[in-house]
Amino acid sequence: MHPTEILLSNEQIQKRVAELAAEIRRDFPDDVHLVAVLKGAFIFLSDLVRNMTGPVSLDFMALSSYAKGTTSSGEVRLLKDLDTTLDGKNVVIIEDIVDTGLTLLYLQDILRARNPKVLRSACLLSKPSRRQVDVKVEYVGFTIDDCFVVGYGLDYAEQYRNLRHIAVVGS
Ligand code: IMP
Repeated sequence: MHPTEILLSNEQIQKRVAELAAEIRRDFPDDVHLVAVLKGAFIFLSDLVRNMTGPVSLDFMALSSYAKGTTSSGEVRLLKDLDTTLDGKNVVIIEDIVDTGLTLLYLQDILRARNPKVLRSACLLSKPSRRQVDVKVEYVGFTIDDCFVVGYGLDYAEQYRNLRHIAVVGS
């Protein structure tokens, strides 16, 4: 399995991430607390915050997703919890990609229980044709077809996270 064709260039990604940052800032001009899901969202988050001026705070969570390979087990486990409370905060979950939607739905459920003032979700990529559950995502970077992609934080067996573009993986 190797990355084959380039799906999204770094230029396309940068332009869209700047737009998403502006949208989030417009919706939350005073303060916003971004909760990123490790590891896949780390590059998306870092570009997103660098496109935002004004007050923004961050926290990280780690969940298990695919152990190895390209199919979801459907099982989600919390590996690392947040450092701070969400009580009364404007929270935006930052995800790399929403595939079946199971991970994000699980996250929204556990974070909503912590009493944020507002809870929204952002993902760089969405594969709506793969959805198994109806999960709401307010900020979507790109909608893509059902293919496995790597780069810009996304991995295949822990590789390719360092690519600046997003590529489709083929055999
Ligand atoms: P979901 O629970 O099926 O929506 O899966 C979400 C997680 O699966 C993402 O946060 C990714 O870590 C991983 N994932 C889903 N599709 C891809 C892909 O095409 N490339 C890399 N990781 C993916």
